[in-house]
Amino acid sequence: MLPDKIILVGFMGSGKSSVGKELSKRLKIKYLDSDVCIEENEKKRINDIFEEDGEEAFRNMESDFLKNISLSKEGFVLSTGGGMPCFNDNAKLIKNLGNSFYLMASPDTILDRLKNDSSRPLLKDGNKYEKISNLLSKREEFYKKAADIIIETDGKNIDEITDEIIGCLGDKI
Ligand code: S3P
Repeated sequence: MLPDKIILVGFMGSGKSSVGKELSKRLKIKYLDSDVCIEENEKKRINDIFEEDGEEAFRNMESDFLKNISLSKEGFVLSTGGGMPCFNDNAKLIKNLGNSFYLMASPDTILDRLKNDSSRPLLKDGNKYEKISNLLSKREEFYKKAADIIIETDGKNIDEITDEIIGCLGDKI
């Protein structure tokens, strides 16, 4: 396992992007966000990919991105899209890629972070809390399968979560 590949998995709004950026800054390694890379490749926003191409096409884009990044010799911190570990054999690929962390958050925390957000197509219509808890309970097993370590994030700020991850990495860095 390479010490300089760090992968963050977890539900939408669990803090993967903010923590990923902070980790990258502190460890001085490249930061990658799978959603941003896919948007750049496709030259469209995630919402438009879901609307125009459909979810299945997006999941294939995620799997292709993951396979490509698996070939990288360079270190990175990767924030994955919230659904990535739950499709194809992505959970296994993530687990084998490097040091993976599941940023675990409760439905209440997630709702609090996403209540005014309109960028997530899967949470667009209907009762947001119900959608979050239903989807989270289906996805939990995949997040656990993909991750080496679970980090509880409820009630913690970005710095505290980052400190905890760096602590887990210990003398690998
Ligand atoms: C999704 C999560 C989003 C994005 C897309 C689908 C999901 O990423 O990939 O909207 O299925 O949970 P974030 O987890 O960064 O919000």
